[in-house]
Amino acid sequence: MGDIPVTVHKHDALIVGAGGAGLRAALEASKSVNTAVISQVFPTRSHTVAAQGGVAASLSNVEPDDWVWHMFDTIKGSDYLGDQDAIELMCRMAPEVVIELEHMGMPFSRLQDGKIFQRRFGGHTKNFGKEAICRTCAAADRTGHAMLHTLYEQCVKNHVIFYNEFFALELLMNEGHVVGVLAWDIANGGFHIFHAKATLFATGGYIRVYKTNSNAHINTGDGLSLSLRAGLPVEDLEFVQFHPTGIYGVGNLITEGVRGEGGYLLNKDGERFMKRYAPTVWDLASRDVVSRAMAEEMRQGRGCGPKGDYILLKLDHIGADLIHERLPGIWELAYVFAHVDCTKEPIPVTPTAHYSMGGIPTNRFAEVVLGNMEKPEEPVKGFYAAGEAACASVHGANRLGSNSLLDIMVFGKVGGKRMAEFAASLPEHVPLPENPGRKGIEEVKNLLNGNGPERMGAIWDELKETMEFNCGVFRTEETLTTQRGILKKLCERFKKVGIADKGLAFNLDLIETLELGHMLDFSKAIVEGALARQESRGAHYRDDYPNRDDVNWHKHTLATMDEDGTIYLDYKPVRMKPLTVPTFEPKERVY
Ligand code: FUM
Repeated sequence: MGDIPVTVHKHDALIVGAGGAGLRAALEASKSVNTAVISQVFPTRSHTVAAQGGVAASLSNVEPDDWVWHMFDTIKGSDYLGDQDAIELMCRMAPEVVIELEHMGMPFSRLQDGKIFQRRFGGHTKNFGKEAICRTCAAADRTGHAMLHTLYEQCVKNHVIFYNEFFALELLMNEGHVVGVLAWDIANGGFHIFHAKATLFATGGYIRVYKTNSNAHINTGDGLSLSLRAGLPVEDLEFVQFHPTGIYGVGNLITEGVRGEGGYLLNKDGERFMKRYAPTVWDLASRDVVSRAMAEEMRQGRGCGPKGDYILLKLDHIGADLIHERLPGIWELAYVFAHVDCTKEPIPVTPTAHYSMGGIPTNRFAEVVLGNMEKPEEPVKGFYAAGEAACASVHGANRLGSNSLLDIMVFGKVGGKRMAEFAASLPEHVPLPENPGRKGIEEVKNLLNGNGPERMGAIWDELKETMEFNCGVFRTEETLTTQRGILKKLCERFKKVGIADKGLAFNLDLIETLELGHMLDFSKAIVEGALARQESRGAHYRDDYPNRDDVNWHKHTLATMDEDGTIYLDYKPVRMKPLTVPTFEPKERVY
């Protein structure tokens, strides 16, 4: 194979990823500096497009609400692992970022009086947990779709430069500064160096590492392993959220909005079992509680169907008109994937891997921080992260539904502003390192020129099946130790991986093999973090340590990786000081 060209581009602000966080950051940065976005897919195909139920904000359109109640719910939902300064900022800014979207033209559903429609969602309450509240602002059940298209239009209007179908290969650093990325042009082949004054990762989550999941194919956590490979830490990766209602057998999301509109879960005896697990809010408890309750019902032999391996989600009683008006996407998904007409029959559902609470550690300004015990809050110069790729940490051990679209709007905006200010403050670009992108270029060339006997598909299948089985809703020392051994073997096999397609254009064999390498890297951090954490907190449930242990484990996990791929763990304190209100201390969970 001849030499593959390397092209260099220079921008002030570079954003990697064109989901909601990336586009919101690009919109903000482009107000003052030259801004480019690189994206693995056409921007409006990013995973945000799949978000259904809505975005949380205490607008008080349906009933009186308060950002302090929202903050309390978010901290409690996080099982007290969330950083309270970042959570306060997010909840306070929520009304502002939602109204901004409205003014950009986002087509929200409307109440009779013309205000933005708001619905109930799990874990969102009034008066510090007294009863459920309508806080989630929605565009029917296609809120992410409406949001992403609105933001893309605004970015185009603001002359953001888009490099679509580019795959990031390496984070470029020079003397402690992040100076851009090396990327691969998926459509044509070829290396591209993006040299930037400030770089923001909005590369999304890592849930494709689980077999049954609600995520887009691109959610392979590449940004996390690019950071790990650059010697930077990742935070709290053991906290993986399982959404209670994925369609049985396929995993597609059935929005929590269904339960917000009055739908409920039934076991094989027709019992509304959630009343036993969450006597106050029943089906609207937080996701970790509902997912575990469903798994427990199935473990106890009360699951539905011949194998007892699903639960029923009933919503026909809310009426066909309401379903078609507020949940049209759900009706269609249930019809296509579960072959049920949900205006007449319940939908078979099981918990599905949905969201990664952990990510690249940042402060509340979306600045990536070193995160180690000595310098936990020291920013990495020129590097920012927002959205599911980041860990601010506003979700702690468990995210509340509809706080994710909020997170991407708030920290996209804050990060975009911050990176633009930093870029504007530099008279010139920090130079590229010597031989920039050497490792990423070698990685691709080795695959294109090599002939390894192992195949990506077989390794990937084993990875996602075993991660689900050994590191899923329930974990023990035994299952996690087994998974540690499996990962070791899979990594050995990956060293001998080869690709059949040697072409440069649209070589998906190449891209998916690169993605698999990323997933193997950060899976080790998920498993090591989960094995070390001898407690149950939020989405991390250890059958052998069923209680939360605030004395020993009220802290964030940090994982780093050395050149050989060995993971090292460290810890840092939870930021318990909000900006203006009293601290919320850990309490027993009562639902
Ligand atoms: O249930 C849902 O609509 C999902 C929302 C979320 O993950 O925030």
